[in-house]
Amino acid sequence: MRGMHIPSDHPLLLRIVDDLAERGWSQQNIFLPQVLTVALAAECRRRAAEGELAPAGVGRGPAQEVREGIRGDHIQWLEPGQAEACDEYLGLMDSLREALNRGLFLGLEDFESHFALYPPGAFYKTHLDRFHDDDRRMVSAVIYLNDAWLPEHGGQLRMYLDDGVEHDVVPTGGCLVVFLSGDVPHEVLPATRERLSLTGWFRRRGNGPFP
Ligand code: OGA
Ligand code: MN
Repeated sequence: MRGMHIPSDHPLLLRIVDDLAERGWSQQNIFLPQVLTVALAAECRRRAAEGELAPAGVGRGPAQEVREGIRGDHIQWLEPGQAEACDEYLGLMDSLREALNRGLFLGLEDFESHFALYPPGAFYKTHLDRFHDDDRRMVSAVIYLNDAWLPEHGGQLRMYLDDGVEHDVVPTGGCLVVFLSGDVPHEVLPATRERLSLTGWFRRRGNGPFP
């Protein structure tokens, strides 16, 4: 796999693995190098300007539909070989995949990811990232691409943890949030400005009905 790789025993990756094992989620405020964050944000904006992003659907396969009352973001799925910055991101995520497999024996085989752009006011209501008819998604990973985000801009990722605890993540550029896809309900709150992210899922081999 091309792109930027780091050893799977890098301290940052080991911390994420430990967090996931202990409590099912991890937040690393300084994960992505700033030059890469800036390049990915530019790539996301370029795709948006070219009209390549489309309203995101809810559900999977033939049952998928666009429902703005549930989620209002625009997305485009990543493919390797499209842009250098994207390949570097995919390389880093592959390093994380290896670390998760070594530390947690999850048998993660692939990674799917998309750019997401939330226009001002857009949100994503509370949901789980695992589909009822497809349990291959094991671990969710969100990276934010926003410059100088302030809490008053809104747009927090709100995670509903055990014992009624809520945890809000401010979507500041370079921050990575990782959580167990089937265990952590979460939502995206509306923001006053455009909100950019890369969201991805590590998947195991499974019995999903769609490829
Ligand atoms: C998702 C999602 C969270 C975020 O795309 O499924 O929950 O903070 N995204 O963008
Ligand atoms: Mn989600």
